[in-house]
Amino acid sequence: MSISKAASNKVSSQNTVETRLKIKRLLEPTKVVSPSAGSDVVKGLTQKPKSLPPRYFYDNLGSELFEQICELPEYYLTRTETSILQQYAPEIAQITGSCELVELGSGSSTKTRILLDAYHQFGYFLHYVPIDVSAGMLETSALALLGDYPTLQVQALAGTYEMALAQLEPTSLPTRMICFIGSSLGNLNPQECDVFFSQITDALQVGEFFLLGVDLQKPKHLLSAAYNDSQGVTAAFNLNMLQHLNQRFEGNFDTTQFEHWAFYNETENQIEMHLRSLRSQTVQLHALNLSVHLSLGETILTEISRKFDLNVIQQELKAKGLVPQRVWTDSNQWFALLLCQMQPSAAV
Ligand code: AVJ
Repeated sequence: MSISKAASNKVSSQNTVETRLKIKRLLEPTKVVSPSAGSDVVKGLTQKPKSLPPRYFYDNLGSELFEQICELPEYYLTRTETSILQQYAPEIAQITGSCELVELGSGSSTKTRILLDAYHQFGYFLHYVPIDVSAGMLETSALALLGDYPTLQVQALAGTYEMALAQLEPTSLPTRMICFIGSSLGNLNPQECDVFFSQITDALQVGEFFLLGVDLQKPKHLLSAAYNDSQGVTAAFNLNMLQHLNQRFEGNFDTTQFEHWAFYNETENQIEMHLRSLRSQTVQLHALNLSVHLSLGETILTEISRKFDLNVIQQELKAKGLVPQRVWTDSNQWFALLLCQMQPSAAV
């Protein structure tokens, strides 16, 4: 009830969608602007074995395909995390109180709405700082949110996590919560994970919060099915990365000459997603001055999706000063949500 009251009082010319939205672009939408743009692509494609950074999945079409993946019957992750969030969002809101919610990889912000609803129910103030590499997705979702939450302020950042975390401005609200849900942490190898946690602790003050969603280890057939869906949406999502690179870097990848290949690597506890070359071929990315040869059957690793052990990840977070205060899972123990709080670093 306090929501509708606030809404009717506040919606005026002073409080339009435009005045409550700021979007800052840290990445150029399509073209290469800085000499360093695309250096990660060059590095990955000139390495053996070849790889590409998963962030290139998410152009506008890729972000839409990912939304479709989230609805697939085999892709249990989103559904499971959503149910955990629905159950515990009020508890999260009560623990943090009014806060600035910084979301890494916000996408459509669908799951975020569960949090926004909980904060609003308790009458807490919330500033939302969504961060995403897809500027199109960022703008669409922010506009939709502002329409639905009449007092919400949105300060969107279009860029990579590293760029955005380093650019966060001090918040006027009592605390901040950085939210990294959906198990995107799984894209980072252990070493990258360690660097990432340091970026998080650098962006947080003592006592502030980190909300992390992680996919847990489970029988191989369930994992394999989630990344090899029967409708071929994951395959389209994987192949779309090549189209994105074509557009962004003036490339000539022919997507009919590649196939999707995903499997669960039990030694590393990770899904590996590759694009396999269906013939011997040479591809150019003109804007990067790059010519790449692929032999028949050669693969490009586009993504790892690590599956975590709940005890291990808790230890790792704690060692970084991000102490798990609450840990929630679903009844199958398929997915976990951890609410961590930044501890003072030990005096040296
Ligand atoms: C967004 C990284 C969590 O690893 O499950 C979905 C991406 N890739 N299907 C995942 C993805 C293929 C997803 N994350």
